[in-house]
Amino acid sequence: MTDITLPLDGKIALVVGGGRGIGAGIARSLAEAGADVVVADYDLALATESSAAVEALGCRTAAIKVDVRHAESVQAMVDAVERQFGRLDIAVNNAGIVSVGKVGELTVDQWDQLMAVNLRGVFLSCTSELALMRKNRFGRIINTSSIAGKIGFPDLSHYTASKFGVIGFTNAFAKEVAGEGITVNALCPGIVETGMWRGDDGMSARWAQDGESEAESWDRHQSTLLPQGEAQTPEDMGQLVVFLASAKHVTGQAIAVDGGFSL
Ligand SMILES: NC(=O)c1ccc[n+]([C@@H]2O[C@H](COP(=O)([O-])OP(=O)(O)OC[C@H]3O[C@@H](n4cnc5c(N)ncnc54)[C@H](O)[C@@H]3O)[C@@H](O)[C@H]2O)c1
Repeated sequence: MTDITLPLDGKIALVVGGGRGIGAGIARSLAEAGADVVVADYDLALATESSAAVEALGCRTAAIKVDVRHAESVQAMVDAVERQFGRLDIAVNNAGIVSVGKVGELTVDQWDQLMAVNLRGVFLSCTSELALMRKNRFGRIINTSSIAGKIGFPDLSHYTASKFGVIGFTNAFAKEVAGEGITVNALCPGIVETGMWRGDDGMSARWAQDGESEAESWDRHQSTLLPQGEAQTPEDMGQLVVFLASAKHVTGQAIAVDGGFSL
């Protein structure tokens, strides 16, 4: 029998906001590629479920509660990774929230809450992860942006601003650490069927036209917005993350997995 070597064998990965949706898919893809995967999320029950799913794939794992809005919580998460696994090779900063409203309706509180998770959370996560990655002069950081990080969406000005911010931050940060064996890239998902889109609270419901059900709204969005006519999956996102986690000379980029929607 020959041993099969996987691309991320021996690597320690952390998926922040990995409890469900895209993050849980990325965690599975990293585990399938051979990495040990720590799952962190605001919702510890979700993190534990996602961690159990990657454990079933045969990797070492842990579930951690984190609130990316707070520096102490983020530092405690990275300290826990160091204590349990000794180092950090791959970090996916994927926690994000959305709300909907036009300028004039959006409140300052909506703006601040969204920025605190989507943009401050990425900054705080990168800050703590960098300190640990520097110890081994190796790191692969992937920050989740969006197609709304490349093109403005009405009703989502605050979300669009946060995701453009993630791309700008990623590009500047990548240049700062380019000489240290650390790459930093942004993943820009298109439309993925997660809690962010589906259900009573999701964007399909909020953007349903008169007389249109939530499911019909979902179908309309994926078929009219996306050139390929169908939504992407969490596994599509995991595929790009595994590539970025393996690539040495790709850094500072914002790569869309959106079926041809954006540049
Ligand atoms: N679903 C899409 O179509 C889509 C498209 C583009 C970008 N994105 C981005 O992808 C990422 C994942 O989105 P998703 O669709 O899987 O959404 P989701 O709501 O299913 O998952 C988001 C996860 O982030 C966690 N989270 C929220 N606030 C947190 C906090 N303060 N601290 C730690 N964890 C927190 C949630 O508990 C949840 O597990 C987000 O950054 C989102 O903006 C999603």
